[in-house]
Amino acid sequence: MNKKIILAISGSMRKPSFTEKMLDLCIEGMGENVEVRKFYPHKMNIGPCTSCWSCWGKKTPGVCVQKDDFQEILEAYKQADYFLLAAPLYIFSFPATVKNVIDRFFITLEPAQVKSARGGTEHPKRFDRHPKTVLISSCGFPEIENFDLLRPYFRKICDEMGWTWSGEILISAAGIAGAPKLFDRKYELIKKAGAELREGSISKETTDEIAAPAMSAEDYRKMATASFSGGIIDKIKTISIAMKAMREAEKKS
Ligand SMILES: Cc1cc2nc3c(=O)[nH]c(=O)nc-3n(C[C@H](O)[C@H](O)[C@H](O)COP(=O)(O)O)c2cc1C
Repeated sequence: MNKKIILAISGSMRKPSFTEKMLDLCIEGMGENVEVRKFYPHKMNIGPCTSCWSCWGKKTPGVCVQKDDFQEILEAYKQADYFLLAAPLYIFSFPATVKNVIDRFFITLEPAQVKSARGGTEHPKRFDRHPKTVLISSCGFPEIENFDLLRPYFRKICDEMGWTWSGEILISAAGIAGAPKLFDRKYELIKKAGAELREGSISKETTDEIAAPAMSAEDYRKMATASFSGGIIDKIKTISIAMKAMREAEKKS
């Protein structure tokens, strides 16, 4: 059986990146017989689209004048069966380096404007590739609603670019990811999501379970605020809130 190719974008500059951990767990869950091509946009030389329209011109259709590292991502995309886009939430959207990569996918569209099956207008796609695409993201506020702009935005991008939207793996309150045990169940569920993706797409049940709060928003706010203050009392406060949440998590499991 041919290996399935996964194009993975890891868009956080933080080390270690929690969002990348989510990405890696999903890939692990996807099992054997996959080839992963992972890219870190911020480590690559990728210029912004300059809107020169050369890739839409008659002379060099589908060819970008910028000879930079986006070419590597494009080559992987042309073969990809899956496209995992992992990026932390930055001001309710994608980090600029990731958005920059998305813009460069403009080259995969043709200039004609045609009626879309969804209503409205779209561009025909230049390549006959429609990788199953998944959004993986984490954020620092406690409510999952912080993804309310990113989620439909990502779906719209998938629709317009011809990527087959196949699910989302979203975690809020990622500031407590370092507390022992709190996210253990989520990690198992992310692997399950990867397995489901391999079978077709990520189920709503798994998505919702991953997104379920690990502690109350009120406790999380207190903990997140205290963790940035640095004092010993606040450190104790942080630990005691985390322990309370862990006890509650244990009771539930
Ligand atoms: C520039 C910047 C903007 C951010 N914007 C948001 C935001 O709009 N909403 C939110 O809940 N968290 C926001 N965060 C927090 C990150 O999304 C959060 O810490 C995330 O889990 C980091 O993931 P990583 O470890 O993969 O980098 C922001 C962080 C940074 C550095």
